[in-house]
Amino acid sequence: MSTNGDSRPGRDSRPDTDDTGDAAESSYLVGLHLAGRRVVVVGGGSVAQRRLGLLVASGAHVHVVAREVTPAVEAFATSGQITLAQREYRRGDLADAWYAIACTDEPDTNAAVVAEAEEERVFCVRADNAVRGTASTPASARYDGLEIGILARGEHRRSASVRNAVLDALQSGALPMSAEPAAPGVALVGGGPGDPDLITVRGRRLLAQADVVVADRLAPAELLAELGPHVEVIDAAKIPYGRAMAQQAINDALIDGAKSGKFVVRLKGGDPYVFGRGYEELEACVAAGVPVTVVPGITSAISVPSAAGIPVTHRGVTHEFVVVSGHVAPDHPDSLVDWPALARLGGTIVLLMAVERIEAFAGALMDGGRDAGTPVAVVQEGTLRTQRVVRADLATVAQRVRDEQIKPPAIVVIGAVAAFTPDGR
Ligand SMILES: C[S@@+](CC[C@H](N)C(=O)[O-])C[C@H]1O[C@@H](n2cnc3c(N)ncnc32)[C@H](O)[C@@H]1O
Repeated sequence: MSTNGDSRPGRDSRPDTDDTGDAAESSYLVGLHLAGRRVVVVGGGSVAQRRLGLLVASGAHVHVVAREVTPAVEAFATSGQITLAQREYRRGDLADAWYAIACTDEPDTNAAVVAEAEEERVFCVRADNAVRGTASTPASARYDGLEIGILARGEHRRSASVRNAVLDALQSGALPMSAEPAAPGVALVGGGPGDPDLITVRGRRLLAQADVVVADRLAPAELLAELGPHVEVIDAAKIPYGRAMAQQAINDALIDGAKSGKFVVRLKGGDPYVFGRGYEELEACVAAGVPVTVVPGITSAISVPSAAGIPVTHRGVTHEFVVVSGHVAPDHPDSLVDWPALARLGGTIVLLMAVERIEAFAGALMDGGRDAGTPVAVVQEGTLRTQRVVRADLATVAQRVRDEQIKPPAIVVIGAVAAFTPDGR
């Protein structure tokens, strides 16, 4: 047996699943209830690192024995989530264990751990050689109260790809989660900036359960195409009347739908609480006694610049970014924005709904003292196939926006980062 009973960081011999080797026998798949029970992991490299998250989440008392550990494994120990014996493996380390994982980069040590486990009647995964262990780690996932585990007799790529497919199908709603319809109520879901992949997992799941979807103009249109024919889609952008009346009609649609026993998803662009009137809708639902849940979304204010290669912050360049609505001009009596104060900031300013009045905003900033040569980027239809980026500075941006016929939706980024390019140059 090797004298080195630990695993050097990053040098484990197996990938994400332990369902490896030439396992010919079929297994009996179980779920272990490990809460409060001792689990011993011998090895502190990348395999251990991948296992620790789920083991800790299961409530197990995890004890790691390893001479060297990765920084992530060490962080589990310093935060008190596991105990760590930083030394070589010794016989007896599995005392009181219910379950063990041998994942050092040394076959002899792993074999010794398995041998002790066998004697102690403790099930033991052997990461470098699945058939020599007495248990295999499935390719696993947790999803909304489900625990999914796939074993494929040693074909770990296959088990991982089936796991991913199941997860994808659950997330997209292609695989129904339950035969039960969703409870009546409203979910205010942030759909992200437009690319259908940029909605959250929770948002997508709730969308798949909807009976009614009330969709904004900027909600990702491709997500609507995935809905079943039984789902009623109300296009909020087409609701007639003025702004206030339209909002009232949207609130009524949410409340009426929920009160008639349906699960209503209010699908909004970006995040529901960033210039999205989401809180007004929450208030209306609460006042009507309708259960409402809010699912945050990826706001366009950050993700659209990012999609154009522009970070809203950068170390040593900007320590602040401010997100501002341009739906009213700087001198409008309803404006709540302190433009002279904004002009004095040196950091990044992100303007939404600002294309039509870009001249007035650029002028207000320059009048307040912001340098006319400050870089500006305007990103139209960010994250979509039709995305366009126009670069200018404060003095030229209004003319550039006109020349290039930039139309909403667009984000205006002002500040040094607006000169950054996607290739890092
Ligand atoms: C009423 S606000 C809603 C913002 C949304 N709640 C969010 O968090 O992204 C609409 C404005 O967001 C910006 N916007 C949203 N999606 C965009 C996109 N894909 N590309 C560029 N701008 C976008 C535009 O400035 C647009 O006029």
